[in-house]
Amino acid sequence: MSLLTVKNLRVAFDGQEVVHGVSFSIEAGERVCLIGESGSGKSVTALAIDGLLPPNASVEGSITLGGDELLGAGERTMLGVRGKRIGFVFQEPQTALNPVVRIRTQLVAALRNHTHLPRSQWRETAVELAQSVGLPDPEHIVDRYPHELSGGQRQRVVIAMAMSVHPELLIADEPTTALDATVQARILRLMMASTAQAHTAMLMITHDMAVAGQTATRLLVMKDGRVIEAGTTAEVLRHPQHPYTANLVNAARTLSLS
Ligand SMILES: Nc1ncnc2c1ncn2[C@@H]1O[C@H](COP(=O)(O)OP(=O)(O)OP(=O)(O)O)[C@@H](O)[C@H]1O
Ligand SMILES: [Mg+2]
Repeated sequence: MSLLTVKNLRVAFDGQEVVHGVSFSIEAGERVCLIGESGSGKSVTALAIDGLLPPNASVEGSITLGGDELLGAGERTMLGVRGKRIGFVFQEPQTALNPVVRIRTQLVAALRNHTHLPRSQWRETAVELAQSVGLPDPEHIVDRYPHELSGGQRQRVVIAMAMSVHPELLIADEPTTALDATVQARILRLMMASTAQAHTAMLMITHDMAVAGQTATRLLVMKDGRVIEAGTTAEVLRHPQHPYTANLVNAARTLSLS
């Protein structure tokens, strides 16, 4: 049984369908990249998996995690899934942070909710998490509020929070787009090491074929609300079947040579 199975997922907003029957599965230990142009339905697909679409969305199909059906599961079930079994890094990190709560409290929120982390260890754990994503001066940065961090630093806080409980599936929507190349490489390595160590899976969304090529074991290419190509990273990069994918691969090659 696969860890995650998405079958014939259809999502419509106010009757207008934007995801047209997407199917894929992810095994434990796999790192899958969902790649495609802006508006192709990547974020909507990810949000559907975590049950986070707004009320004007209608969702059809099936989404199972470890055999449990998530589509149509009640809010109570999803509260036990979110943050614990599925870690989610949003495309807009600001939305995931509470502006009036210190970084140290937010960093350990998932651990406090889902494990019995004693209060005496909250601060030390927060500092370790800050350190793990390369935040500067972790001892002090944890005492700040979100607005006292740069955008890239906030993004790293959100990544550390999502990874803290070693969820079975880490979903990261453009997690490193706001980061400079050195930090981006460090975060990608960290996410890969952390999932490998815990034998957990990762679904990463990116529009950057170079990032996907470095990170993923398997690629899913989306266009206009459909998966148009899927395969191992090596297969897709060497022999792209769809002209759209071939363009993405060529563009990434040209960029890396320039
Ligand atoms: N809350 C919403 N209400 C109505 N339409 C929406 C909503 N969210 C997304 N859409 C539409 O669904 C389609 C897919 O959007 P989605 O956010 O999944 O794109 P994406 O592939 O993540 O793009 P990007 O790379 O720009 O993040 C788009 O046409 C978008 O306008
Ligand atoms: Mg998106």
